[in-house]
Amino acid sequence: MEVVIVADRQAAGELVGQAIADLLRRRPEAVLGLATGSTPLPVYADLARRCAAGEVTFAEARAFLLDEYVGLPADHPEAYRAFIARELEAHVDFPSGAVQGPDVRPTGADLLASCDDYEDAIRLAGGVDLQLLGIGTDGHIGFNEPGSSLASRTRLKTLTDQTRQDNARFFRSLDEVPRHVVTQGIGTILQARHLVLLAFGGEKAAAVARAVEGPVAAMVPASALQLHPHATVVVDEPAAGKFRQADYYRETFAHKPGWQGL
Ligand code: GLP
Repeated sequence: MEVVIVADRQAAGELVGQAIADLLRRRPEAVLGLATGSTPLPVYADLARRCAAGEVTFAEARAFLLDEYVGLPADHPEAYRAFIARELEAHVDFPSGAVQGPDVRPTGADLLASCDDYEDAIRLAGGVDLQLLGIGTDGHIGFNEPGSSLASRTRLKTLTDQTRQDNARFFRSLDEVPRHVVTQGIGTILQARHLVLLAFGGEKAAAVARAVEGPVAAMVPASALQLHPHATVVVDEPAAGKFRQADYYRETFAHKPGWQGL
C-alpha cells in the first residue's frame, strides 16, 4: 500500500485528478468507480477543470457508483445517483447512460436480484479500473459497516448509528437519514484494479490509521485495502495525525521516481 500525505484537500484533488486523467489517456474506455460524500469533491472539481481545459475526456469512459441509499425518492438531492449527476456528470463529458448506480427501487427478492444484476453489470463492463473511496469514521468503505465480510458482494446493509449521525449533516434531521443502503461489497471493491482511498481532517485520523497500520479485520472494513496489490491512500496532514510511520510515507513519496505515477 502506498500512503501519500498532502498539504490539503486541493493538493489531493490535483494528485488523484492527474492519476485519473493519465488513466483515461492510456485507456479512454476506462471504467471508474465513483464514491460520494464530501471527500471526493476536490477530485471531481479537479476533473471538471481538466475537462473544461481539454486535458481529459470521458467520452468513452464508464462509471459505477459504490453505493446508494434505499428509500429516498430518486430525485432526492442526497440520493447518491443525484449527487454524482450534480457534482461530476454535470461538469464532464460522460455520454448519457455511462454512469450507473445500483437500482434500489425493487423490494424483497427483486432487490436481491437487482444487487446481483449490478455485480453482473460491473463484470460485463470489464471490471473497475480505478475505484475512488472515502472512509467512514467507523472505518467503513462504501457502506460496508464494521463486521462486513471481507468477501462480501453487492447487497443490502443497515447503517450504524454512528454513520447515520455522521451523514445527518446532509439531511434536515437525523430521522430523514435512511437506515438501509445497497453497497458494493468489500470483495467487489477488492476486484477493482486500483483502489484510491482519500481521507481528510482529524476526525478520520483514527479510522485511517487502523485501516493502514492495524490488523486486517472485518471490524475495520477499510483494512481490506491491505489485501490489494495496488492501493493508494491519500490523506491531508490532520488525517495523517495518528500514523506511526508518517515520516517513512513522506520520505518514500518525496523520493518516488516520477515515471511511476500513483
Ligand atoms: C458515506 C459514504 C462513503 C463515504 C463516507 C465518508 O457514508 N457511503 O462512501 O466514504 O461515508 O463520508 P465523507 O466523505 O462525507 O466524510
